[in-house]
Amino acid sequence: MQTTLTDSAEEAAAILNSGRVVAFPTETVYGLGASIYHPEAIKRVFQAKGRPGDNPLIVHIYSLEQLADIAVEINSDARKLIDRFFPGPLTLVLKKNPLIPDAVTGGLATVGVRCPANPVAREFLRLSACPVAAPSANLSGLPSATSWEAVYEDLEGKIDCVLRGNPSSIGLESTIVDCSGSKPLLLRAGAITFEQLQTVVPEIATNTNPDKQAPPKSPGLKYPHYAPKAAIILCHTDETRSVAPSSAYIGLSEPPEGISLFKRCQNLEEYGCELFSFFRRCDSKGIERIYCELPSNQGLGRAIRDRLMRAAGKK
Ligand code: TXA
Ligand code: MG
Repeated sequence: MQTTLTDSAEEAAAILNSGRVVAFPTETVYGLGASIYHPEAIKRVFQAKGRPGDNPLIVHIYSLEQLADIAVEINSDARKLIDRFFPGPLTLVLKKNPLIPDAVTGGLATVGVRCPANPVAREFLRLSACPVAAPSANLSGLPSATSWEAVYEDLEGKIDCVLRGNPSSIGLESTIVDCSGSKPLLLRAGAITFEQLQTVVPEIATNTNPDKQAPPKSPGLKYPHYAPKAAIILCHTDETRSVAPSSAYIGLSEPPEGISLFKRCQNLEEYGCELFSFFRRCDSKGIERIYCELPSNQGLGRAIRDRLMRAAGKK
C-alpha cells in the first residue's frame, strides 16, 4: 500500500472520511486515526501497529458537543476536569455510549476521550465527519512517535496517509484519568501533572498500588511499552562515573564519562519532549545501552519516571 504524505488537513480528513487510516500530529505524540464508525478502518489500526485487540483506543473529538455521542453519565468531577483541561493533553475514561463499537473500546464498558489542543489536530478533527479513534502512531511496544518522520519509519506501507505537522511539543502521551467510578483515578501520568489535577479534584487517587489479582484498570498498561532496542539503564548520574562502550545518556545532569551520544536537558519539559526521539536516534545509531537519569516523582517527573521504568521493563 502507498502511504500518502500530506501537509493538508483537508486531504487527510477526506482520506479518513473514506474509511481509511491516517496518522496526524497532536501536542502529546502523533496519533493513528480511524473513524469510529468504520469497523474495517479500526481493524486496520490494530493490524498496522501489531496491537492486541483487547487494548482500547482513545476517541478524539474537536468539540465538546461531540461528548454526548461518546460518553454517558458524565459526573461532576469529569465536568470540572473538562472545563479546566480540555482541549489539551488529558484523556478521561468515562462510561461509554452504547453506540461506540466494541472494537474501539476492546469490549470495555468505558471509553477514553481526548480533545487535543494542537491546531493541526484540531483542523483535521473539525474536517473529519465523526470522532476519530487513535492510538499512538508507532509499532506496538516501540517508543511513541513524536515526529512525522518517526511515524513514517514505523508505518510506511501499512497506513494510508500521514498528515505532516511539527514535532510534538510535549512528547509524552496524555495524562489519563478514570472518571467512571466513585472517585477519579490517575491511570497514566502525563503533562497535566497529578498536582494540577489535585487542585481541581482533590479526591483523585493514583493507580500505584493496583491489586495484582484484579484485571488492570487500563489494559494497555500490562503490555511492554516505549522500549528501544538498546538496553535502558536507570541511573543517578552522581553514582555513574564511567560507562561501557557504545552507550548513550539522557538526563538533566552532566553525562557520565566515556559516553558516545548524549542529550543534557535544561528542564523536565525538555526531557519529556526529547525522550522518545532520543531513544529512536540511539537505535538508528546502533547504541547498545542508554543511561537515563531518573527524575523525582514531582510534577512532570512522574510521567518521565513512568515511561523510563516501563522502557527498562521495571513496571
Ligand atoms: O496522548 C495520547 O494519549 C495519544 C494521542 C494520539 O492522543 N494516544 C495514545 O494512545 O497514547 P495509546 O493507545 O497509545 O494509549 C492509550 C492508553 C492505552 O494504555 C489504553 O489501554 C488506555 O489508554 N485506554 C484507552 N481506553 C481506555 C479505557 N476505556 N479504560 C482504560 N484505559 C483505556
Ligand atoms: Mg501507545
